[in-house]
Amino acid sequence: MIFLTVSTFLLGLVAAALAQFQLLSNVYDTPTRVSADGIKASISSFKHIANVSTSLHLSALAPGDDFITLKHPRFPAHQVRVKKTEFCDSTVNAYTGYLDVDSGAKHLFFYFFESRRDPAKDDVMMWINGGPGCSSSMGLLMELGPCSIDMNNSSSNGTVWNPYSWNNEANIFFLDQPVGVGYSYADYGETVETTEDAAKNVHAFVNIFFDTFPQFSGRPLHLSGESYGVSMGRYLPAFASYIYDQNQIAKVEGRPTLNLTSVLIGNGITDISTLYQGRYEIECGRAALEVPFQSISNCVRMKRALPRCDAAMRQSCIDRFDSIDCRAAVAFCDDELSTGYWASGRNVYDVSKMCIGDSLCYLENMVISDFLNRPETRRLLGVESPNNFTACSRDVGAGFSAHLDKYAVPSQFYVAGLLERGVPMLIYAGTYDWQCNWVANKLWVDKLEWTGGEDYGRQAWRDWTVDGEKAGETKSSGGLTFATIRGAGHMVPHDKPVESFAMISRWVARRDL
Ligand SMILES: *[C@@H]1O[C@H](CO)[C@@H](O)[C@H](O)[C@H]1NC(C)=O
Ligand SMILES: *[C@@H]1O[C@H](CO)[C@@H](O)[C@H](O)[C@H]1NC(C)=O
Ligand SMILES: *[C@@H]1O[C@H](CO)[C@@H](O)[C@H](O)[C@H]1NC(C)=O
Ligand SMILES: *[C@@H]1O[C@H](CO)[C@@H](O)[C@H](O)[C@H]1NC(C)=O
Ligand SMILES: *[C@@H]1O[C@H](CO)[C@@H](O)[C@H](O)[C@H]1NC(C)=O
Ligand SMILES: *[C@@H]1O[C@H](CO)[C@@H](O)[C@H](O)[C@H]1NC(C)=O
Repeated sequence: MIFLTVSTFLLGLVAAALAQFQLLSNVYDTPTRVSADGIKASISSFKHIANVSTSLHLSALAPGDDFITLKHPRFPAHQVRVKKTEFCDSTVNAYTGYLDVDSGAKHLFFYFFESRRDPAKDDVMMWINGGPGCSSSMGLLMELGPCSIDMNNSSSNGTVWNPYSWNNEANIFFLDQPVGVGYSYADYGETVETTEDAAKNVHAFVNIFFDTFPQFSGRPLHLSGESYGVSMGRYLPAFASYIYDQNQIAKVEGRPTLNLTSVLIGNGITDISTLYQGRYEIECGRAALEVPFQSISNCVRMKRALPRCDAAMRQSCIDRFDSIDCRAAVAFCDDELSTGYWASGRNVYDVSKMCIGDSLCYLENMVISDFLNRPETRRLLGVESPNNFTACSRDVGAGFSAHLDKYAVPSQFYVAGLLERGVPMLIYAGTYDWQCNWVANKLWVDKLEWTGGEDYGRQAWRDWTVDGEKAGETKSSGGLTFATIRGAGHMVPHDKPVESFAMISRWVARRDL
């Protein structure tokens, strides 16, 4: 990747660009005083060449075809390329770009939309999709972003306005991670195959994000996401913990910290020990639908297999992790406890529907992929990935799977660690999801070991409502809140946009649901 600084559209002159390149190189070749204003300082030092605002208030940029490239002395191996875009929401400042990490060999793509309410005061939120390997643009265009994919050819630009977008009250960025996902890419085929490795890149990304948009620095940061697959319960606790730990190091060393304010996990799998029990309740009990939909004979088969599945998982994945034995345990559990569901033809993300379209079960997937692959969309976004867009990358998924990433680390320990340190968590789940179902989530949260655990256990469930209607059930204690969204599948904001937005609005306002 060529290292260019402020783009030619601002300069108009290649020579000037080269001069700048040298200038910026000099800045970073010499030791630079580390400060929160580092990026401002380095930008202002070449303001006489490019007429960029000295404080790098990016809203000063006009929509253009080219990226402006920024480096930060605290992250010498990283740089960010960012452009203003008219994509999706023309009522706010919107940007897309790449964070080039690890000496520029890995490129993480992001979309950033300022809040529709008060960008200068509202919190900042990160959204990621899971998989592992699925693009956050699926969440953007199908669920909670400022625009939704146009499914009936009614719009000239491929998208329609989403009145329930979470950027109604928060500045929000969508990150395609790790490399290989969505429009993120690597130059030399590097891959990231574990959550713990991915956390380092996400941490670098978030730091540079706040340096690139200094008007947001110190602003409360919420990490949110949904698994879209089965990894979010893994990703977010690990990412948030890494950020928390790095903050402590930064404090000691007098460097700026990230204002990690909460973590929101939608339909994740965090503690794998409850997953299959939950699926049994969804299929054979009345946890999702009024009448169990699985055949009695399959339910008997499942019920018989459950204790063995639990014991095998406990022995080979949980109490002690052995990759060969754990893989065998998971294969047994899937055989006995999941094949019945797959055979039913139902949508794995929504038991009330049949699976349509591709294996991801939603027609939107193909339309979104086609839309994002259009040359004009790629141009609008400034995509530089050599790859075509795919909703979920098989290769990335396979890499994580080879490491049994889902089973290798008990993510509930990260959750407990964060709660003990006062980081609030919202664990929410649509009740129609089968994959990362709400029962499995309730069970692991119930048995989570942390100081507030007993008090959480004593709390009563209560309904939470939107416009006087029951939206789901919730309970909280300490920093922990659990909530269901009634009648929503895995993609909660897709199925229940009004309720989801109400939940987010209350959460970022630090109110009870
Ligand atoms: C640079 O920007 C300032 C403030 O926006 C403006 O007054 C000035 O004319 C600009 N200079 C050039 C050379 O474009
Ligand atoms: C389809 O178009 C109609 C208006 O013609 C609109 O009301 C509806 O929301 C659209 N549906 C989708 C899924 O885009
Ligand atoms: C959408 O509309 C455009 C123009 O109105 C038309 O050319 C195109 O074939 C339509 N696409 C579909 C899938 O209906
Ligand atoms: C795209 O088109 C829709 C309907 O035609 C419109 O409401 C929306 O504002 C447009 N989006 C952008 C980003 O211009
Ligand atoms: C984090 O955000 C809260 C809420 O706005 C604020 O009170 C606090 O000072 C911020 N902390 C830091 C370290 O910036
Ligand atoms: C992208 O898709 C096009 C059309 O399907 C295909 O010709 C091309 O080889 C693909 N590119 C890559 C890098 O896979």
